[in-house]
Amino acid sequence: MSDLSRRGLISLGAVLGLVGVTEVAPAWSAPGWSWSPSGSVAGAGTGVDPQWVWDDTIDRAMVPVLENGQVPAVNAAIRPWVNNNHPLPSGLPADITAFLQQANQLPSWADRAKLRRAADFNRRKDTYLFMLYGVGSGIMSTVIPREARSVYWSKGGADMKDRAAKTFTFGYDLSQLSAYEPNGQFIVTANKTRMVHAAVRHLLPQLPQWKNGATETIPISNGDILVTFHSLGTFVHSKLKEWKIPMSAADEEAFLHSWQVAISLLGVRDEYIPRTWADAHAQSAQVLSPILMPTTEGRELAEVLLGLLSQVDLGVTRGFLNEFTRYVLGDTIADWLGLPRDLIAAGIIRVGWPSYILFREGLLPIIPVNFYLFDQFLRAVAMAFLNGGTSTQTTPIEIPDINRPA
Ligand code: HEM
Repeated sequence: MSDLSRRGLISLGAVLGLVGVTEVAPAWSAPGWSWSPSGSVAGAGTGVDPQWVWDDTIDRAMVPVLENGQVPAVNAAIRPWVNNNHPLPSGLPADITAFLQQANQLPSWADRAKLRRAADFNRRKDTYLFMLYGVGSGIMSTVIPREARSVYWSKGGADMKDRAAKTFTFGYDLSQLSAYEPNGQFIVTANKTRMVHAAVRHLLPQLPQWKNGATETIPISNGDILVTFHSLGTFVHSKLKEWKIPMSAADEEAFLHSWQVAISLLGVRDEYIPRTWADAHAQSAQVLSPILMPTTEGRELAEVLLGLLSQVDLGVTRGFLNEFTRYVLGDTIADWLGLPRDLIAAGIIRVGWPSYILFREGLLPIIPVNFYLFDQFLRAVAMAFLNGGTSTQTTPIEIPDINRPA
């Protein structure tokens, strides 16, 4: 099958289970970049493909740290640096300090009122967000080949349960009420993540397993981060709309804004950050939908993630979890991951979940039959994240000094 026809098949419709995909070509690159910077927060730009843009200043600064065995010292220096209003850590190499002096702040276009509204929106809709980030985006990350492979082959890949959970709980941490406030932690978390990503860019290309299977030499480009953003924020937005969750225009705008600021803090250039949801969905259709594909590493990662979720025993079966994943992500992805069918659970979800939403939103006067089943399920998903000790608020972000240990 030609790459072009593969792209045609693996549309966002396929992601959402609207069409079937039976054959997949082994090409992992997105079509050429043609998204216009006029749809970005910058409003203009060079038009350079973000797949060839990394994070030069911190990338350069991290190289001597990794090559001269300074990672433990840098990790020790950044450990007590947690809140947005904490002073920058002392004892860091001058280049890193200079980088952080410039990076450890909100972008000039950040709107604090919108960020506060986003935090409130996240609180009001946390039920659906937990579900969608956890079961939806988390599992989707395993069929994003470059992400699945870099997570698998990096240091944390050896403890995939912990590693994978951190990746998708980031979305939850972002939604904390104080995320961007002085006593919040998100700006610091983002900068530590930027340092981790810079380390991974230096380490992974040295690994034979990475070189052999990769279509990119250096991982975690601006393009890759945009892909991940769409698997989180843009995907969640489309599902909230599809599920007809009541949202005001101001809520939707605020939710987008918190992601615009988040990816800016992760080093994505303004010319690539979508200005509106329409711009974001257009970009997602170009960079995320066509590249989704199963890999050996991703399948293993998905198994760990689903195992993590089903470990919390609140009477929710693995069959129910598999079917909910299928309901959220569609048949194509569920089949790629080899999720077995449970037709009884599928029927309960198809009928029960829309009624559950209606009741929760006050749009259905009578409590639906399976209300408590869905309530327990949500509780199990929340507990897997909150009690699993996997939140970045409880688990310090550490810079890796090696790739995945053998
Ligand atoms: C590390 C979040 C994009 C690959 C991390 C960490 C966070 C994070 C919070 C640190 C957690 C830890 O210490 O394990 C994000 C967010 C992204 C993003 C929010 C975009 C919105 C990406 C992309 C890739 C990637 C696009 C690869 C294509 C990795 C890897 C690590 C990492 C390999 C290091 C794991 C290790 O220490 O072994 N990311 N990330 N991330 N991220 Fe990302």
